[in-house]
Amino acid sequence: MPLIALLPGDGIGPEVIAEARRVLDALALDLTFEEAPVGGQAYMRAGNPLPATTLDLAKRADAILFGAVGDPQFDGLERRLRPEAAILGLRRELGLFANLRPATLTPGLEDASPLKPEIAGAIDMVIVRELTGDVYFGEKGRRVGPGGVREGHDLMRYDETEVERIARVGFETARRRRGKLCSVDKANVLETSQLWRDIVNEVAGDYDDIELTHMYVDNAAMQLVRNPGQFDVIVTGNLFGDILSDQASMCAGSIGMLPSASLSSWRSSLGMYEPIHGSAPDIAGQGKANPCATILSAAMMLRHSLDLADSADRVEAAVAKAIAGGARTADLGGTLSTSAMGDAILTAL
Ligand code: NAD
Ligand code: IPM
Ligand code: MN
Repeated sequence: MPLIALLPGDGIGPEVIAEARRVLDALALDLTFEEAPVGGQAYMRAGNPLPATTLDLAKRADAILFGAVGDPQFDGLERRLRPEAAILGLRRELGLFANLRPATLTPGLEDASPLKPEIAGAIDMVIVRELTGDVYFGEKGRRVGPGGVREGHDLMRYDETEVERIARVGFETARRRRGKLCSVDKANVLETSQLWRDIVNEVAGDYDDIELTHMYVDNAAMQLVRNPGQFDVIVTGNLFGDILSDQASMCAGSIGMLPSASLSSWRSSLGMYEPIHGSAPDIAGQGKANPCATILSAAMMLRHSLDLADSADRVEAAVAKAIAGGARTADLGGTLSTSAMGDAILTAL
């Protein structure tokens, strides 16, 4: 029986994971669940945001469903003790280099997007974000320079093997969609990006059927607002992908709608599934969080890690039906609480 590691974490993490759990339970599948502390919650309990027992569970599990980590009360801690170190550690330790972030406008949410409805309505893309390299994992540090001037640095780097494997995920993802891949970089300024572009062009030789374009990240940010419907699959580095996916989420109505899958190969079974949003300290504990991103992440888990495509389809259809029927949390302009939104999705299911 597949084992699911539930890592609810901080802030709204436990609130949205609870709704995803209700949906999974309603499917009556043969799944076992084991929960473990992570993030600030784990630091409080064990002095470590990613306790060995939690990492061990993540490694034993067939899939991980993750809520969110982060709490301003821990922002002053040394970096390895902060809640965010847990998610970065899980990604690194499990080799989850490929982060798929599908951004689609769920019909009915045109009015929730700040874009004009006809522009927002066309959003249907997957952002393939590299997740274990880049400036996130390069050497970093602080020092005091001449004259007592404080300095900080973070090394941006990729090697060709890291670019090649994520490029392949991008091409393979495009092959299963509309056949268009846009690689986003900053090759006009950054040497890391020039290597990225060179390698993506080399890999393109194996994918004659895919239409490859390159775009600078500043233009990509602008195009996401001007005409997001032009994108099918975007492949990009860790930092640019982080920023562009939050932007894409709002274009599609709300950050509370976007799921993600983090995989160790484009067809690997072990994966970590999580909403792209964070712990939302500003609304935590108030029952205001939109659980859809986490419920849709659970659907991605069913599809990618558990080979339960029919159940995944059912969950996605239930979310779409609830939204089409007018169910809305506050971020979508409605009044439903987190659990009432969960109820609407369960009813649709
Ligand atoms: P955030 O995503 O937590 O919140 C940004 C804004 O979006 C807030 O106004 C929040 O209320 C809103 N929002 C987010 N999710 C929502 C939902 N499901 N429903 C309704 N509204 C929602 O980003 P932030 O405020 O920059 O970061 C807060 C903390 O979360 C920080 O500690 C950060 O490091 C952490 N973080 C964690 C993850 C993660 O665990 N994967 C991701 C991003 C940020
Ligand atoms: C995300 C988050 C994380 C990231 C943080 C919490 C480390 O913003 O998953 O998008 O930057 O990758
Ligand atoms: Mn982010």
